[in-house]
Amino acid sequence: MEVVIQANTDAATELVARIVAREVQTNPRAVLGLATGRTMETVYARLVQMHRSEGLDFSACRTFNLDEYVGLAGTDRHSYRHYMDQHLFRQVNIDLRNTHLPDGAAADMRSECEKYERLIAEAGGIGLQLLGIGHSGHIGFNEPPSPPGSRTRVVALAAATIRQNTPIFGGAEKMPRRAITMGVGTILECRRCILLATGDDKAEIIAKALKGPLTSMIPASALQLHPDCLAVLDEAAAACLKELQKV
Ligand code: F6R
Repeated sequence: MEVVIQANTDAATELVARIVAREVQTNPRAVLGLATGRTMETVYARLVQMHRSEGLDFSACRTFNLDEYVGLAGTDRHSYRHYMDQHLFRQVNIDLRNTHLPDGAAADMRSECEKYERLIAEAGGIGLQLLGIGHSGHIGFNEPPSPPGSRTRVVALAAATIRQNTPIFGGAEKMPRRAITMGVGTILECRRCILLATGDDKAEIIAKALKGPLTSMIPASALQLHPDCLAVLDEAAAACLKELQKV
């Protein structure tokens, strides 16, 4: 895995936004894999700016998000559909019919998971997948243990993830306990992956994921198997990696 360490969060974010923009410019029908979470908010803000000031054109792009909370309809303000509408989809010229997230309110979760995998395959697979990392070591919502061959499915959220995302819901009791997520295997099939991590709270888990042994207990460590994965870090998130390199 290639690792790029930027001086600060802004520079890390800018680099990732530029890589996504280049993908869209070189291939207007790009199939993008998207993530949510706080880290991605500034990436989307930059893409929106590029759309407004440089004419970055999303009109023919197709997108697939990694995950959605089980039990939340897309109209719920805590749903990832709502997040994406707010931060990106309704701010640029993407055709909403080409934007996909798993349906957290689907009546039949098993067929929803199968449908999601089928839609990705019918789009020709994901060309560029954006990833963040959770304190539990998750990518998407692949909580430990998530084997490298796992596919889109319903998972129980880890305690660390519930702690991490409780502030957004304003109380642990309000947070969904399950999510529907692309699997680690689904992610590994994406042609190119970019993992973005910023802030010192990510430093320990980044060192384990990037330099530790491959283990389903740190699902992000499976990215070491990917032939084209770039990790973009700021200095704070890279702190423990640098410690390892000194030893
Ligand atoms: C959500 C997702 C998660 C987040 C991760 C980091 O779609 O894919 O894996 O990327 O939980 O979240 P933040 O950026 O809020 O720290």
